[in-house]
Amino acid sequence: VTAQHPLRGDVTVLVPAAGLGTRLGPGGPKALRQLGGVSLLVHAVRRLCEAPSVGSVVVAAPVGWVAEVHALLAEQVVPAGVQLDVVEGGLTRQHSVAAALAAAPRTYPIVLVHDAARAFAPTDLVERVAAAVRRGHEAVIPILPVVDTIKQVDESGHVIATLDRSVLRAVQTPQGFRREVLEAGHRSAVDAHTDDAGLVENLGVRVFGVLGAEAALKITRPADLAFAEMLLRADGGVI
Ligand code: C5P
Repeated sequence: VTAQHPLRGDVTVLVPAAGLGTRLGPGGPKALRQLGGVSLLVHAVRRLCEAPSVGSVVVAAPVGWVAEVHALLAEQVVPAGVQLDVVEGGLTRQHSVAAALAAAPRTYPIVLVHDAARAFAPTDLVERVAAAVRRGHEAVIPILPVVDTIKQVDESGHVIATLDRSVLRAVQTPQGFRREVLEAGHRSAVDAHTDDAGLVENLGVRVFGVLGAEAALKITRPADLAFAEMLLRADGGVI
């Protein structure tokens, strides 16, 4: 493995996968929902392990699922050259990432954080983010232009402002960090953030955007699941 992949070994990926997925409707933890006969988590971890830079994967599993998730990934998904750790997730995504970060091996200088719900993030996206951190960016996020017009509203539903779409971007995962930068972000966290870059922005760290990928959509609502199924079929099950 090392000979084929000279870069393997400088990236550990944290995979928050402990969400309940209530917006997806009833049916158990979201990361364990099946798509094309395989769970979202398996799709996600399989793609991460195909990225040559990834030497370690740390999954934050739903409460009560740690042993089962570890067995499944170790037996069927994670190749021998990649270190696997599975920990119990927390009450929020941020807590789940913090738990995975605390359990991550300390030998990897680059840490990526990737939502299990973005099950089809392509391998080249993982490499693009890792490469930007390797080039010297302390924090890196995949971004895409926003297609909808975005407005700010008040609590009664009335519009306060129309934001200038040309300067807005939708943000995906994997997000990449120098390990000490992400650790400092989580140490200093006082309020809730929906992504990890938000934590380090608070520290004054400059965050760099690289091109995201349509296939890295977050599977959140029932229609996303249907769309992901379509992508999977269109690609003969290999996207
Ligand atoms: O809640 P949202 O859909 O934004 O979740 C993004 C990712 O965070 C999902 O992969 C989900 O499993 C994970 N998550 C978690 N622990 C939580 C809540 C969400 O690991 N308590």
